[in-house]
Amino acid sequence: MSRVAVFGMGYVGCVSAACLSRDGHRVIGVDIDADKVASICAGRSPIFEPGLEQLLQQQVQSGHLLGTTDVASAVSETDIAMIAVGTPSQRDGDVSLAAVRAVLTSIGKTLASRDSRPYTIVLRSTLLPGILEDELLPCLQATGCDVGGQVRVCNNPEFLRETTAIKDYDTPPFVVVGANQEADADAVLDLYSNLPGERVVTDTRTAAMVKYVCNAFHAAKVTFANEVGALAKSFGADGQEVMKIACKDKQLNISPAYLRPGFAFGGSCLPKDVRALNRHAQAQAIETQLLSSLIPSNRSQIQRGLQIIKEQPARRIGLIGLSFKAGTDDLRESPLVTLAETLLGQGYDLRIFDPGVRVAKLIGTNLAFVDTHLPHLAALLVADEQELFAHAEYVILGTDVANEVDMPLTLQNHSLDLRRDLAAPSCEVASSNSSGE
Ligand SMILES: NC(=O)c1ccc[n+]([C@@H]2O[C@H](COP(=O)([O-])OP(=O)(O)OC[C@H]3O[C@@H](n4cnc5c(N)ncnc54)[C@H](O)[C@@H]3O)[C@@H](O)[C@H]2O)c1
Repeated sequence: MSRVAVFGMGYVGCVSAACLSRDGHRVIGVDIDADKVASICAGRSPIFEPGLEQLLQQQVQSGHLLGTTDVASAVSETDIAMIAVGTPSQRDGDVSLAAVRAVLTSIGKTLASRDSRPYTIVLRSTLLPGILEDELLPCLQATGCDVGGQVRVCNNPEFLRETTAIKDYDTPPFVVVGANQEADADAVLDLYSNLPGERVVTDTRTAAMVKYVCNAFHAAKVTFANEVGALAKSFGADGQEVMKIACKDKQLNISPAYLRPGFAFGGSCLPKDVRALNRHAQAQAIETQLLSSLIPSNRSQIQRGLQIIKEQPARRIGLIGLSFKAGTDDLRESPLVTLAETLLGQGYDLRIFDPGVRVAKLIGTNLAFVDTHLPHLAALLVADEQELFAHAEYVILGTDVANEVDMPLTLQNHSLDLRRDLAAPSCEVASSNSSGE
């Protein structure tokens, strides 16, 4: 059993407070809005959410859930503070931190003025990565409380949806806790000991980002489905049926496939088919901003790779992998061909190792593509990786061909793995997403 103060009696705070209380914890709900607190104290929910009124009433009547506007008493009587105040958009879209700063400062001052004992502060509110670390922790430290010592700070993003909030609380897809040390997360995990779902303890920036990614993904899915619907209608196809059938594919569509940050997509199908849909949309004057952003966004991913390469002093470059993925000699629209072509155009001395690609064996449209984009490919290809390493000052790992290669130690810090480094925190210096079809 934990003693928890939940700050912010809005949708997230009320549901969390009532459910935590139901699950055996002693909970104090805190809000600056005296009317909301009065409502809770009277056993009435200040917000409408199915099932909440009854649950809240039971918990208040049983004495396990109290309401107050008094931060100091709430902190004094608990061991953990869960912050669920609002973080609305500012006019420019930035996250408003006014409420979260105010509540943290009040908690910090109370902690600083009392006998030192362990206390955990959990940020449940949605905050961009970096806000907690760079803006809120200094604000808390300024109150004089023992941050990093007796006072631990974690984040624990919330994934519930209004109207099904209690059910979502009870069946979370996962419980994500961001903490500097795993032990700091224990107090948070204890709150949910009776809930199902995988426990994920990670760093605070990653935890914060997961929340935004989930919401952006939901938004992208809605928009994608809507654009598909509009296109299907213009083709005389049934968009509902199209998406219903597409969602039956749990191998490539509704699955982790294609969802790892890697390099750009390419190959003989993805770019061509996305282009065809966009061309049709254009001709029919159907605005499909998401679909029409795919090719430009993919180009930006190639640019991100090039930018990192250009920041290196090296001029002799070794590229491992040229086809759009390992195990094929299909070079059509491979982003690595674009990368190689750009590097050559900028005067880099390039060698390429890809055992799947033999110039003499290329035929048809594949050959035509190479002739247009890399006409001197035969002179660039090396027979084995040793020849590549002997040439290169800097190595680019482009496809899983790199898995079969032992990179010399001397080159390991002079390499860029396009399959993962563009999403790594240190990508300026330096898995594999299949890069299309
Ligand atoms: N609503 C959702 O479905 C949902 C789902 C997941 C995450 N979130 C995130 O959770 C957070 C809270 O969202 P919400 O919709 O519950 O907000 P809300 O606006 O419904 O409630 C916020 C509450 O915080 C109170 N408050 C403001 N300043 C305070 C202070 N200094 N001390 C104590 N209380 C204070 C307000 O009076 C209000 O009651 C946000 O960051 C939001 O993005 C919301």
